[in-house]
Amino acid sequence: MAKTKTVYVCSNCGTDSPKWQGKCPNCGEWNTFVEEVVAKDTSSRRFVPGMTDNVKIRPVLLRDITAEEETRIDLKDAELNRVLGGGLVKGSLVLIGGEPGIGKSTLVLQTVLGLRGLKTLYVSGEESSRQLKLRADRLKHDTPDCFILCETNLEQIFVQAQNVQPDLLIIDSIQTIFTELVESSPGSVSQVRECSAAILKYAKESGVPVLLIGHINKEGSIAGPKVLEHIVDTVLQFEGDQHYMYRILRSIKNRFGSTAELGIYEMRQNGLREVSNPSELLLTQNHEGLSGVAIAAAIEGVRPFLIETQALVSSAVYGTPQRSATGFDLRRMNMLLAVLEKRAGFKLIQKDVFMNIAGGLKVNDPAIDLAVISAVLSSSLDISIETGVCMAGEVGLSGEIRPVNRIEQRIMEAEKLGFSGIIIPHNNLKGFESNKCKIQIIQVKKVEEAFRHLF
Ligand code: TYD
Ligand code: MG
Repeated sequence: MAKTKTVYVCSNCGTDSPKWQGKCPNCGEWNTFVEEVVAKDTSSRRFVPGMTDNVKIRPVLLRDITAEEETRIDLKDAELNRVLGGGLVKGSLVLIGGEPGIGKSTLVLQTVLGLRGLKTLYVSGEESSRQLKLRADRLKHDTPDCFILCETNLEQIFVQAQNVQPDLLIIDSIQTIFTELVESSPGSVSQVRECSAAILKYAKESGVPVLLIGHINKEGSIAGPKVLEHIVDTVLQFEGDQHYMYRILRSIKNRFGSTAELGIYEMRQNGLREVSNPSELLLTQNHEGLSGVAIAAAIEGVRPFLIETQALVSSAVYGTPQRSATGFDLRRMNMLLAVLEKRAGFKLIQKDVFMNIAGGLKVNDPAIDLAVISAVLSSSLDISIETGVCMAGEVGLSGEIRPVNRIEQRIMEAEKLGFSGIIIPHNNLKGFESNKCKIQIIQVKKVEEAFRHLF
């Protein structure tokens, strides 16, 4: 029996310390240290899958290494393939993170069921095989090559993986898996770290790609994928509002592709549907004649789409006016309101302002500033913005409209969707031949100028 000792581990970043601390000296988070038991005898700690213990690895000259193009597996899901950088690389370890209930298991199971001619092993530590069967029936996909294993012991999982010899291994989720070599409970930082290191070793040695599911816990009581991010090759984040149907799959880290890619899905009764043209979905409502609606030509990652920003300005009932924003940073909205107040002379002190981005999406692109500010003004004046006009532009503190990136793509997207005009920042069109477009391009320097065009 190995001697044991306890250490305190930060559940946010994984730093360990011999004594408890209120604030983590590494990541600065408060109250994240949890006590964990670790085996003292480190020689027996590491788990080595397979019989590769005595293989000596020697350094080789870089020029002697032959690098073929990584072979990628086509996952038959255009969005997922794109986010992964063109398919799943053999021997890679991909982490799919997201809040509980967002649809990670659904996404992965659906992908697995859509594959043909590839043997997959789906290990679930969360659901029983019956539950998985019910879910698979609901998804209305079927494949003869999917094995299900309901197991949480990592050593057992490796044994079964050895037997099945899958082409793809799924582990749902890393927080439920444990290795016998670490004494703390599943989901603790040391378990998560040890298990994912062993899984990485398995992936690299066998060449089998592994999809790992991980929960993000806001309280930090369970080790979040933060610790994992350093270990895995690719981190995908599945996000969205549970009350809305849209889900975004974002690449946060990718050793085999760009992190600028984005996948959009719609959660349906029978699973997730790929959304190949997001603009058409986000703009379905007919808002002709309604005030407080402005269309922004936004870009998330590298994908342009047009999105509706809605604002409601009403008289404040209480002394302190309310400000609320969904899908948009509240501090940024307050800044934009201050700009509106100062530069355009609109008194918003006694007004409640509510802001909403359609579809429950969170947009980080600063180019939607102009649409936000226009929607607020439109609601405040109760004058609708002409349909067929969209806009893109970052608003500076002095009310100037700053240039934004990828303006050509935004203009092309607006034109493709039949918009008649787009308001863009002045001097943003370097080298772009705008006379080829049918869409009317209006260039503005200040917010006042934009307002003159709109109202
Ligand atoms: P799930 O994949 O279990 O989430 P996670 O693995 O991230 O915890 O998804 C759960 C939610 O998805 C659940 O609230 C119901 C919804 N859902 C659908 O709307 N349609 C479907 O076809 C399926 C399978 C799930
Ligand atoms: Mg799940």
